[in-house]
Amino acid sequence: MKKDTSWKQVGRWYDEIVSKDGHTYHKEVIFPELKKWYTFKESDAVLDLGCGQGILARELPKGVDYCGIDAAKPLIQKAKGYSKHPFFIGDVTKPLEVERKDFSHVFIILALQNMQEGEKAILNGAKHLRKGGKLVLILNHPCYRIPRQSSWGVDEGKKMQYRRIDRYCTPMEIPIQMHPSQKERSEKTFTYHHPISTYVEWMVKGGFSLTKLEEWRSHKSSTGKWAKMENRAREEFPLFLAIEGTIR
Ligand SMILES: C[S@@+](CC[C@H](N)C(=O)[O-])C[C@H]1O[C@@H](n2cnc3c(N)ncnc32)[C@H](O)[C@@H]1O
Repeated sequence: MKKDTSWKQVGRWYDEIVSKDGHTYHKEVIFPELKKWYTFKESDAVLDLGCGQGILARELPKGVDYCGIDAAKPLIQKAKGYSKHPFFIGDVTKPLEVERKDFSHVFIILALQNMQEGEKAILNGAKHLRKGGKLVLILNHPCYRIPRQSSWGVDEGKKMQYRRIDRYCTPMEIPIQMHPSQKERSEKTFTYHHPISTYVEWMVKGGFSLTKLEEWRSHKSSTGKWAKMENRAREEFPLFLAIEGTIR
């Protein structure tokens, strides 16, 4: 059954944690890394699918065209309050109500894994790119950050923190309680887990050649008794997987 995967119920909370300047992972990891990938020019035009409250729009240099679409009305309202760019409410797994077919970049930042039919968002993105345009996926790392199926453990003998992965290959729909202390009363969102091979399959089907793939680690650093062990684990297990496809 088709689910409503929009974050309209948790829009206020999400806007509070992202705020005008971005969540710490936007500010310290995702945008600094993306700045190494791209220098935007005025001739560029960016389509942001699952744009949330529009943080990407506020990162782009002035003069770059931008259009953001998200299924959550409260987040689109917030986005419009933060910047003058065009933002639309819509399900990006359905045909997009955007005429333009010559975007230079399509971004899907931390949103594809919240869509029940992620493949359709990628195929839609492909339809709105100019020749040679890029589609960029930023994912919670599908190997190491699988809600409910991955966790930290400590091997006392080796004095090492390890990552335990209980399931990986099987696609999963995983409900997430946004406020775990409220248990069943908590608002829920959904994460859709897929192995990396599925994302590659979707990109190839969409007509993309994979032109970049990076794994980005946390910027955080521990102090105290367990610092060495925790910092080593952070170095070993990336938080995010970033994939760029270039349309053929
Ligand atoms: C974790 S938020 C990320 C938002 C934004 N890209 C950011 O980095 O802050 C995931 C977003 O995906 C949106 N979303 C989920 N399913 C969607 C769909 N089918 N179409 C459009 N947006 C969707 C949610 O409403 C939510 O805003």
